[in-house]
Amino acid sequence: MKQENKKSVWWKKAVGYQIYPMSFQDSNGDGIGDIRGIINRIDYLANLGIDFIWLNPIYKSPQIDNGYDISDFRNIDPIFGTINDFQELISKLHKKNIKLIIDLVLNHSSDQHYWFQEALNSKDNPYHDYYIWQDGVANTKPNDWVNWSGASEWTYYPQIRQWNYHIFNKRMPDLNWENGKLRKDLLLTAKFWLDMGIDGFRLDAISHLKKMSFNISMKSMRESGQDPWAVHTNVPGLENFLKEIKYAFSGYNIFTVGEASGITPGQASLWTGENGYFNAIFELDQNRHDGYDSKKRPKGNIQAFKKVIFNWETRLNIFGWLSPYLANHDNPRSQQVWGDNRSDSSAKALSLILLSLKGTPFIYFGDELGIGSKNFTSIEQITDPEAQIAYQKTKQEKGNIAKAFTDIANFNRDQGRTPFWWNENKNAGFSDGIPWLGISDGSQGRSAESQIKDPNSILNFYKKMIQVRKSSPSLNQGLFYPLSLEQDSTVNFLRQTNSQLSLVISNLSDTTTQIELPTSIDLDNWLQVIATRPTRLQRKMSLGPYQAAIFMKRVNG
Ligand code: NOJ
Repeated sequence: MKQENKKSVWWKKAVGYQIYPMSFQDSNGDGIGDIRGIINRIDYLANLGIDFIWLNPIYKSPQIDNGYDISDFRNIDPIFGTINDFQELISKLHKKNIKLIIDLVLNHSSDQHYWFQEALNSKDNPYHDYYIWQDGVANTKPNDWVNWSGASEWTYYPQIRQWNYHIFNKRMPDLNWENGKLRKDLLLTAKFWLDMGIDGFRLDAISHLKKMSFNISMKSMRESGQDPWAVHTNVPGLENFLKEIKYAFSGYNIFTVGEASGITPGQASLWTGENGYFNAIFELDQNRHDGYDSKKRPKGNIQAFKKVIFNWETRLNIFGWLSPYLANHDNPRSQQVWGDNRSDSSAKALSLILLSLKGTPFIYFGDELGIGSKNFTSIEQITDPEAQIAYQKTKQEKGNIAKAFTDIANFNRDQGRTPFWWNENKNAGFSDGIPWLGISDGSQGRSAESQIKDPNSILNFYKKMIQVRKSSPSLNQGLFYPLSLEQDSTVNFLRQTNSQLSLVISNLSDTTTQIELPTSIDLDNWLQVIATRPTRLQRKMSLGPYQAAIFMKRVNG
């Protein structure tokens, strides 16, 4: 959206909602969610009370990485619809006061992109330098760099006798940010969508635009006690690229949120906020799921989660801005990792925490229904390329295939990508055809249609919680003060403005847990504004499984 007068900071009090388009609503029976499907569900979104949507990539793509491999930065993939559908989506969302941000993938393209196809023609082609190459012979890789799946970051192209560099899949070559013409061309594609009226971007893999010299080996980094990922993560000089991106967006009143892998809170306090390169970032520390044990149920460690969240919230209290989230398309569902699939209370407690944190929170689609994990019974049911690569690698190396399958089945990106539960009909109302990915377990009786009618449903709790956040200055603007630093499963904190104080208490475990509030908190005049079940505030309290509550009071500034 073009800037009119002064930029407003609408995003500071806004609640975001991430839609994974393939899995939200299919309108044409091909088993894949589409733009028309989203248009048909705008009333549901407006009713939920969210302020903006983040839509995962809908650009033209061979779908090697579900749309993150883009073959045309200025077009919509036919599986999702047309540019006209997209324009209709923007205008219908805006009529309901819902803004729209989309993914902007600046680090790589698809190998099917025109630029890459041209680049493969010859070293003299003007687009050759849009990508990253090293001369060499087959079988001798330029260096030992590997990505998170353990795969080499180099692919050999015999036709030009060069190695191509890619952090992600070999079919997703990295774009050469050292080339000014590439930067200009790429940022013009971003303006194309901004001029169409979108309200911002989620900047994919933004920490990786700059690489270290290829002479540096990951092994030497490791041996000298440095982080091997630093070879391609937040490499000094990246700031210059980020400044250029910020400059390209300066005429627009938009919200930008960077996927900031490897960034420290210290950096983020400078990178984000009203004057940062972006307005906000997603930190990725919480996704390490420390303590995850596939032999038990696939569950993250709450103490580790709490430590990460409290650290980020505290460090970005005054400077910088965070976008808190519980789940996204790259992780299993929050119910699976931080809660309990079977417990409505755990989904409610999680929403209460997320929507009480400082920053611009993002709800992951379906979390408001308590969608949990799926019981995958064969590797063929899993489409996630990362999971498939990991499985094939174990197979080739003649590793323990049964264990590899259990681990992968419990913890793969498809776990977080299963379709939405609209109603109690076939395929939970997601599609009349065969869904591209099976519906997760436990949908019966818990669809949106059923939950709308039930005042005690997770969905109605979310709606209430969104309104509580939006109407409470302490929750949408206040400073963050952690409580309960102990190594336990309670997540307790305060949020405060000059006029209002909120106390958030919760037990993210399936057993009753004691908490004790510090004596600095006086127990008078608190009002309970929302709770998973009525909770009496006391100095020492027992919180039942997944019990959570917020108390508020007025304070004098
Ligand atoms: C991060 C995205 O969230 C993920 O889904 C994708 O595979 C990589 N970036 C590559 O674009």
